[in-house]
Amino acid sequence: MSMENKVPVIALKDVNKSFGPIDVLHDINLEVRAGEVLCLLGDNGAGKSTLIKILSGVHQPTSGTIEMDGNPVVFDTPRVASEKGIATVHQFGGTFALMSIGRSFFVGVEPTKGWGPFKVFDRKKANAIAVKAVQDFGITRIDDGDRLVGGLSGGERQSLAIVRAVHFGARVLILDEPTAALGVKQASHVLRIVNQAKKRGLAVIFITHQVMHAMAVGDHFAVLIRGAVAADFRKGEKTREQITDLMAGGETMANLEAEIENYMQSHDGHPPAAH
Ligand SMILES: Nc1ncnc2c1ncn2[C@@H]1O[C@H](COP(=O)(O)OP(=O)(O)OP(=O)(O)O)[C@@H](O)[C@H]1O
Ligand SMILES: [Mg+2]
Repeated sequence: MSMENKVPVIALKDVNKSFGPIDVLHDINLEVRAGEVLCLLGDNGAGKSTLIKILSGVHQPTSGTIEMDGNPVVFDTPRVASEKGIATVHQFGGTFALMSIGRSFFVGVEPTKGWGPFKVFDRKKANAIAVKAVQDFGITRIDDGDRLVGGLSGGERQSLAIVRAVHFGARVLILDEPTAALGVKQASHVLRIVNQAKKRGLAVIFITHQVMHAMAVGDHFAVLIRGAVAADFRKGEKTREQITDLMAGGETMANLEAEIENYMQSHDGHPPAAH
């Protein structure tokens, strides 16, 4: 069965979102299949975070529906979304800096699953499970579950959060700018982990401002401009330059160069170009 024929794990159908009189999202239609990465691109304020808050149960759509496996679902709360297999990882990979790796791995799992595999929290067992999970993802530098999360690099923290989501059975992994604060090496580390999550069959939604990061993992790209999907294309259909131009809100590089040229002329004492 080809990619196109598989039923999407998650889909948005004609989703609109307003906050009072402010319309933030307009008729959003998007879908993500198992083993596929959808990159959500767009400038500041385009509506990316609002869209993922709808997918993670933080906000309700004003109209339109969410479907999982072709069936309508309602995510009343983040808890409901999480129980249905939606995992969201934010920019800094969670806020467990003062917790050990083993302990942080099971945070939030206890109430629903009775400490996961334990009756009483067992530090050694938790450490062993967490370390094995991260090592299975190829992160061999993490070998001591007693280490504090705060002592990990930014990229390792992000990777740990992704591994944790996969380990506990997430089907949809939402990453809101996971590489934004990272250097080249750390970012490529996280991108590798994203590719592994995809290989394990998760449907991944990856938000980024960095075109190169998107191109390294994306199968499918959607560009949001002022709350609407302005472009929706698959890998290989557009060049890096075309994607960059789209993300700048339809501004082409040529426009930008003309603007800079004008600016430089006026600052050299020349009058601004006549209109
Ligand atoms: N709770 C809210 N009430 C009113 N307006 C909101 C609310 N949340 C978001 N907005 C508005 O919706 C628009 C989109 O915001 P959003 O945070 O989704 O953008 P974004 O694409 O994630 O931007 P960035 O790249 O800066 O993170 C913004 O104009 C924002 O002010
Ligand atoms: Mg945002």
